[in-house]
Amino acid sequence: MVQFSLPKNSRITTGKTWPRPEGATNVRTFKIYRWSPDDGANPRVDTYFLDMDKCGPMVLDALIKIKNEIDPTLTFRRSCREGICGSCAMNIDGHNTLACIFGLDEISKDTVTIYPLPHMPVVKDLIPDLTHFYAQHASIMPWLETKTNRPAKEWKQSIEDRKKLDGLYECVMCASCSTACPSYWWNGDRYLGPAALLHAYRWIIDSRDEATGERLDQLEDPFKLYRCHTIMNCTKTCPKGLNPAKAIAEIKKMMVERAV
Ligand code: SF4
Ligand code: FES
Repeated sequence: MVQFSLPKNSRITTGKTWPRPEGATNVRTFKIYRWSPDDGANPRVDTYFLDMDKCGPMVLDALIKIKNEIDPTLTFRRSCREGICGSCAMNIDGHNTLACIFGLDEISKDTVTIYPLPHMPVVKDLIPDLTHFYAQHASIMPWLETKTNRPAKEWKQSIEDRKKLDGLYECVMCASCSTACPSYWWNGDRYLGPAALLHAYRWIIDSRDEATGERLDQLEDPFKLYRCHTIMNCTKTCPKGLNPAKAIAEIKKMMVERAV
């Protein structure tokens, strides 16, 4: 499994160790990254202990239990609890994934380590700043772009053409893939990263879209697309089982085909 490096503000110190639950016999240790913009202190790693006989099965269950019962200042994003909203992405046991669908039993070590997504500015604790990530997504025009007159009822698509969107439309924009990519760590200001490029491909191959040439023109750039070096961390880490590396390869292939 790939181990990713630490968040940007990573001069990490040892933090507080919270008390063990009294009388518990099935205890697990959680080491969790903490940082607040409000106290001027370095980031730290706090240690918590949970009675696993009283905890749900997912990493998000453990985080919610810690926040509800031990330390209400622990800060993280979550919403759907079903792997759909993409908001609970974080680095768990060295892997970028969604806390709500990552089972505690998938972690073989006794101690569970939880950090924010790597190489991103941190807003607080486990919350990365995704402003730039979302701006990159917006830059690929994530909508149907048409030039012909709007049909009376709907834009039609054959079953075969609709199938081409499978493996792409399911992306929940969690940023696990982009923040697992060394090229994105080094050139994230100009390289669009696997998530935005997967979405770019989703619209490029949509049979109803009429801006394919314009979309490819926008990606014809030494950084936006070609900083992908097929490292494959994106595909290895995607918690939805998608393959951003393949989508990027398909765009590169289209670039070659239209040049000959
Ligand atoms: S491709 Fe996968 S890892 Fe990347 S943003 Fe979409 S769901 Fe998350
Ligand atoms: S809470 Fe929505 S994906 Fe985890």
